[in-house]
Amino acid sequence: MHDLEDRYVNADAELIFGQVELCVLLGLRGQNPGALLLLEIAFIGKGKEQDRLSQTFEFNLSEITQLAQHEFFMPGLVDTHIHASQYSYAGTALDMPLLQWLNTYTFPVESRFKDLEFANRVYTKVVKRTLRNGTTTACYFATIHTDASLLLGQIANDFGQRALVGKVCMDRNNSVKHYKETNQECQEETCRFISELLNKKYPLVKPVVTPRFAPSCTGALLEQLGAIAKNNNLHIQSHISENVEEVKLVKEMFPESESYTHVYHKYNLLTDKTVMAHGCHLSDEELDLFRQTGASLSHCPNSNISLCSGVLNVRKVLKHKVRLGLGTDVAGGYSASILDAMRRALESSKVLTIQDPEHDTLTFEEVFRLATLGGSQALSLDDQTGNFEVGKDFDALRVNVAAPGGPIDLIQSEEPKILLEKFLNLGDDRNIVQVFVAGRKVVPFTDATPE
Ligand code: GUN
Ligand code: FE
Repeated sequence: MHDLEDRYVNADAELIFGQVELCVLLGLRGQNPGALLLLEIAFIGKGKEQDRLSQTFEFNLSEITQLAQHEFFMPGLVDTHIHASQYSYAGTALDMPLLQWLNTYTFPVESRFKDLEFANRVYTKVVKRTLRNGTTTACYFATIHTDASLLLGQIANDFGQRALVGKVCMDRNNSVKHYKETNQECQEETCRFISELLNKKYPLVKPVVTPRFAPSCTGALLEQLGAIAKNNNLHIQSHISENVEEVKLVKEMFPESESYTHVYHKYNLLTDKTVMAHGCHLSDEELDLFRQTGASLSHCPNSNISLCSGVLNVRKVLKHKVRLGLGTDVAGGYSASILDAMRRALESSKVLTIQDPEHDTLTFEEVFRLATLGGSQALSLDDQTGNFEVGKDFDALRVNVAAPGGPIDLIQSEEPKILLEKFLNLGDDRNIVQVFVAGRKVVPFTDATPE
């Protein structure tokens, strides 16, 4: 796990200084790939070394800001799987299993994103909400609509969120007939989406190739998308093995493939830049294929429970050395908070322990790691974010466990590990008093932040 003591940091070019004995100072330095100044971590040192550090790194001790006893910094949260386009109905429509849920609720709503005004309203809300919830990095599904998907990229950039944005590809859909593209449209629009988004040169927002999932795609489309990702060295995201009915459907639709995982593998969609959501029903052999290809999984426990899809055995995934992060999977998951995902991940693990007392229950430290460094690894962004390491960007939450009007009552002073545990189990956005992405303070929103 990430060292709990690495919590007191320099932010916004000032130094923030925590409890004397436990404090660690992090200096920041700028890199400037364009107009936006990105700040990365320049040094990490103990508070008692502040005199030496201030000389080496040339800052004034008066620039240090001291955190209160019940405050700490932690690495930003990473949401490895969220449907921005489903945010309007988050918290409703959880009364059906996956395939019926898609046809009844999801496809009709997603088809509305042809309307850019609607898209703007929903995407602005979801980016702001996730930032307030501490999501410094989000891996988004948009819809099949290229212009609305580009708008999502623009909004994430404007608010300063690190994001992978996917224009959804699907050339099969028999339920909501107008909500699909032809194979050729899919290919052309995906290429247009990628080139237009890359041309914007947003420093923190990148495209991700996004076949919705095997049942929505012909083999020909999957093959084209695999080639597009390879030729442009891009990220890939999709869904896999979420519920049993879906696994059976994939067997029927792709009878030549040994397994669901082999369908994606056949079309070169499993790479070290691939993240697949769910994977609740993967076999040991399939997990081995994930490890061999370097593909990762996004664990979305709220969704898995809400849609009665299954319970992912995270311990088994970790034993197979498959990289794993957490996802909200809004709106299959009803919460747009990775704090919620951590709690559901712990609860899911405890359910497995109830069923089998031999099961090695996840700890809150492990789940914290999945929500931060694990997520950044699952998205192959761990060279830039995920923890406080020299050279990484400064993506961080400033947490006040005893924020006035907040959900946590502290009866006495507590050690840092207890403060973190309380925040993870009891905290919410009232405790997240500041959010930084690449050193830029993105929460609270400033007047200059676009509405
Ligand atoms: N599988 C294919 N599409 C979706 C989706 O939108 N949500 C979830 N949870 N699973 C899917
Ligand atoms: Fe999903």
